[in-house]
Amino acid sequence: MKHIVLTDDDSAIRKIIQIVLEKGGYKVTACKDGQELLRTLTLKSGEVDLLLLDIKMPGLSGLELLEIIHRKYPRIPTVMLTAFNDLDTGMKAIRLGAKDYLTKPVGREVLLGCVKRVLTELEEEREEIAKQVESLAHQKDLEDQLHTALSALDNTARSTLLAFSETIEQKDAYTKGHCHRVSAISLALGKALGYSNEKLVILEGGALLHDIGKIGISEQILNKSSALTKEEYAIIKMHPVFGERIVAHIDLFQPYRPIIRSHHERMDGKGYPDGLKGDQIPIDAAIVTLADAFDAMTSDRAYRSALPAEIAVEEIKLFSGTQFHPHLVELFMDKELYLL
Ligand SMILES: [Fe+2]
Repeated sequence: MKHIVLTDDDSAIRKIIQIVLEKGGYKVTACKDGQELLRTLTLKSGEVDLLLLDIKMPGLSGLELLEIIHRKYPRIPTVMLTAFNDLDTGMKAIRLGAKDYLTKPVGREVLLGCVKRVLTELEEEREEIAKQVESLAHQKDLEDQLHTALSALDNTARSTLLAFSETIEQKDAYTKGHCHRVSAISLALGKALGYSNEKLVILEGGALLHDIGKIGISEQILNKSSALTKEEYAIIKMHPVFGERIVAHIDLFQPYRPIIRSHHERMDGKGYPDGLKGDQIPIDAAIVTLADAFDAMTSDRAYRSALPAEIAVEEIKLFSGTQFHPHLVELFMDKELYLL
């Protein structure tokens, strides 16, 4: 049963309105002035559905009370009771937040009609809000599901990537840990260049997979400790092309193709497989070239043992601009990335 609190200083009017409302099926609490109304609200505002408030009362006027109530109990709708023909005051009350106003003496039908309309409107408003909240919650649910699906996909992509780079390292005994070190140096160069996270992810993947094409080359050639024949060297030089061909079938790896294909190009155009020159070489590939060369020089290989880092650094400097991108060499030195 809806609970209405009626406030009017005129006891006769109070009584009549109370009876009409109670017969109309409402629970009614009657207050004789503003103080009593505020006390009632302090005690049980949560149980009140509507206020009927006389405007002209001794002590706090209806309009003063309306302001207080609207501020403290914005949930509770108020309908004002005004003297006959006092339209201005009624309009003022609406501007202050009253839902409606009734002129006294108020007829039974008008009173019940007004109360019912205000309560129904309020109910509809609340249902609408509840629906919106529910739809927001649903949207949030969908976003969460999408986020979970995306991170699962991310994990799958990452595991696939790591499995591939592991395969390369298994194939070539001397490259144990090589892909990860190349990836670490490449990432440091990317960060030094101010790469976004998205670009770093591509760089990392490309660095891990740069030698994927070695899967297609026989282990006898890869692990040969004596000098390679011309034919064998020609085969080795095919690994960027093989690599690009392998990942061409995997959607997830498409962004890594330029790095895989061009990581043996040189600034002077004497690299392979395409003989690209200077800025024709994708910068990500140039990053991996530098990282790859530095790590290769400082690791044991089938045909020689590791060079000390200082000598490798000198080699890198010596070939800045011919083999390596000069700006990357500069960053590599300035940020002391050879200490990684
Ligand atoms: Fe390579």
